[in-house]
Amino acid sequence: MQEWRTMTPDPILWNDWHPVAARCTLDPGRAHHTVLLHVPLVVTIDAAGTIIARRNDGAPLQQCERYGLVWVCLGTPVQPVLAIPEADEPDRPPVVVGAIGVRAAGPRVIENFLDLGHLGYVHAGYLGDDPQTRVLPYDVAPLPDAGVHGGLIATRCRMYQPKASPAATEGFLVDYFYKVERPLATCLYKDNPVHRDRFDVIYLFVQPVTEVTSIAHPLLLCLPDGTTPAALRAFQQIIFMQDKPILENQRPARLPLYDGAELPIGADRSSVAYRRWLAAIGLRWGVITATEAAGAPR
Ligand SMILES: [Fe+2]
Repeated sequence: MQEWRTMTPDPILWNDWHPVAARCTLDPGRAHHTVLLHVPLVVTIDAAGTIIARRNDGAPLQQCERYGLVWVCLGTPVQPVLAIPEADEPDRPPVVVGAIGVRAAGPRVIENFLDLGHLGYVHAGYLGDDPQTRVLPYDVAPLPDAGVHGGLIATRCRMYQPKASPAATEGFLVDYFYKVERPLATCLYKDNPVHRDRFDVIYLFVQPVTEVTSIAHPLLLCLPDGTTPAALRAFQQIIFMQDKPILENQRPARLPLYDGAELPIGADRSSVAYRRWLAAIGLRWGVITATEAAGAPR
């Protein structure tokens, strides 16, 4: 089975919005070159702060800016850029972590973000620790009020974390919930060590470059707890750099959606739910469908 293909763009992703750059990293003196769904793009900012994204081949695209990110839709948008109500709360301005290239399929990157089982191993000393690595039972359900393709929510997630965030001075049992709102957009809500009655919100948007290469755009909506944006960014970069080699060594490169495909951890209900949801909505990008696995012509 081929590890990657050059294919007709997936209609779900083609007609959705994807981040392709962050305003804070654009420079009037230098064009930002990137690729979205195999399509080369260039993003520029002028001295007045106006941002323009263009396809290299001159074909039209849709663009907008939200949460400090530049968003592009190559087709006809079927819905707006994801709404994030917490981004409107004045005490937690969005913090862009930066664009992190990863040689992995977009759905693999999302699935890894959802995987509670890896926290105690891959992020030992931060988001989990040996021997408290057991994944406690949690619930996964369809996400109410989701976008046109639906979504998922995983609730009652709990994990002992020695250093849940830069502000954490001691370990504690962290309450979480996760949402998957688009095929390549996910977020988690987790306890803040200072504001115990509100949640920090961490989004992960994945820019699909090719089927097996991606650019991760984490976005933080964290409560004021004395941590600087630079410290928040640095912490998330450490966490993502721990994930990167794991992601880049997963095989097959594309996420298998057929019954009986490997799963990283038996207890990982959200992985199973994510794969089933992608199969149900008919995503074809970065995945191995049951039809393909059965050897039928695509
Ligand atoms: Fe991770």
